[in-house]
Amino acid sequence: MENLDWKNLGFGYRKTGDNVRCYFRNGQWGELEISSSEFINIHISATALHYGQEAFEGLKAFKGKDGKVRIFRMDENAKRMQDSCDGILMQKLPVEKFMEAVHLAVKKNIEFVPPYESGAALYIRPLLIGTGPQIGVKPAEEYLFIVFVMPVGPYFPEGFKPTDLVIMRKYDRAAPQGTGKYKVGGNYAASLVEGEKAKEGGFSAVLYLDSKEKKYIDECGPANFFGIKNNTYITPLSDSILPSITNKSIMKLAEGMGLKVERRKVPYEELSDFEEVGACGTAAVISPIKRIYDADYDVEFNYGSEPGKWSTKLYNKLRAIQYGDAPDNYGWVRFVE
Ligand code: PLP
Ligand code: COI
Repeated sequence: MENLDWKNLGFGYRKTGDNVRCYFRNGQWGELEISSSEFINIHISATALHYGQEAFEGLKAFKGKDGKVRIFRMDENAKRMQDSCDGILMQKLPVEKFMEAVHLAVKKNIEFVPPYESGAALYIRPLLIGTGPQIGVKPAEEYLFIVFVMPVGPYFPEGFKPTDLVIMRKYDRAAPQGTGKYKVGGNYAASLVEGEKAKEGGFSAVLYLDSKEKKYIDECGPANFFGIKNNTYITPLSDSILPSITNKSIMKLAEGMGLKVERRKVPYEELSDFEEVGACGTAAVISPIKRIYDADYDVEFNYGSEPGKWSTKLYNKLRAIQYGDAPDNYGWVRFVE
């Protein structure tokens, strides 16, 4: 690990040490197991492969100045994975078992947690898949849960520098009453075509409008959306976006800073009123947005090439809690023993 360039990691897969696994067989979850393999041996008729029975999570661990490693809000990820399981009829992993597995995976890879000074973090990827064979469209009877980890830098290459988004109405990532609110692989498969198009055009992500009417802002491909105006933090309320744990945390911090917080439908037209806009998520952290380009009407919304005042304050506060530089007043972090 000595030879890792911690400051320039980027966001990508990297082989680390052991991963943690747990199998659901014969109607119950087994004990946690440790594996040093990056591969799984899976039935050719597993439901994950054919019918998309697959959910994942994303969370991070941070090394503080004090050398201690903190995992951010893993109970929330555990609960959200259970919601995803309800959404696509998979067996739910108990919250305690999820947290134990995450803790163990981090502990086994403690040398991969980037040093405090690097500003990087350990990305934790829990995954739950249907492994039992079916050929009719039905839920599997067997499941596998895995947690693996890797050190990462910022998701958008710009880091905290403002980035550009694009609106393209002919693509939806999720149906109005579909699976958009779950963290399931199918949503991400559905976003690949336009995601790559966006990148080819020099944008870091697609900004989706609601799939039914195309009147309201939904979210970005890999992150929630927020806008700030008149001392108010505004973020979309929608049934087809992922309930972001980062966004939920930022709303608390915003309130604490004296901002008003509104979670409501955000009409497209409001894009011209915001003083600051941003994308937020575990991988994206807070990514300020400098320009939103509406490719269908050749219209652009500009927010300036420097991060806004509130986005900067929120970013600094969130990071300070995650790295242990500010007190954890909300009980969000768990130490790795
Ligand atoms: N929206 C989507 C589609 C995502 O994939 C993510 C990433 O997890 C988020 C939002 C942000 O959620 P969180 O803050 O819980 O990471
Ligand atoms: C995350 O922020 O954890 C994500 O899952 C976003 C993306 C990598 C899918």
